[in-house]
Amino acid sequence: MSNRIAVVPGSFDPPTLGHLDVIRRAAGLYDEVHVLVVHNPGKEAMLPIAQRVSLLEQSIREDGFPAEHVTVASWSVGLLVDYATEVGAGVLVKGIRSQVDVAYETPMAIVNRHLAGVETVFLLPDPSHALVSSSLVRQVASLGGDVSPYVPPVVSRFLDTGGRGI
Ligand code: PNS
Repeated sequence: MSNRIAVVPGSFDPPTLGHLDVIRRAAGLYDEVHVLVVHNPGKEAMLPIAQRVSLLEQSIREDGFPAEHVTVASWSVGLLVDYATEVGAGVLVKGIRSQVDVAYETPMAIVNRHLAGVETVFLLPDPSHALVSSSLVRQVASLGGDVSPYVPPVVSRFLDTGGRGI
């Protein structure tokens, strides 16, 4: 298990500019970064997991930051820490926008450390992304609003076409 290998997990339904910011920062800190789309049983999904993986891959490519060491995968069986153990990652990276996120993430971080000794590192995205969340984007998109200020261009184009491709 290496502290140079990190997993950036999340629902990414859909990926937002805040997610991309955290992934970019993690890519600058770790030798190997696994962006992991995980099914969250507590949330009703908008996009299929394979679609989220594809949008993340395209968003990272389109953004253009150095990402040879960044891969995108999905995990729907078992615990998040099982994936981390499988790829030898000692670190989980999460973005923190506010105290609300700290309260939501803290129990998960403690449980993940108890389960497998995996540490969680919290990164602060740029404050311009502080109010952006996937659930807000889902709501605006479902009611026909413009989500382009909140999501990577490829995601905006995808949602604009009603999810029929880009
Ligand atoms: O983007 P989200 O929805 O806040 O991400 C939450 C997620 C998917 C990372 C979390 O629900 C999770 O880790 N799910 C995997 C199941 C698991 O390992 N649970 C035990 C530790 S919390």
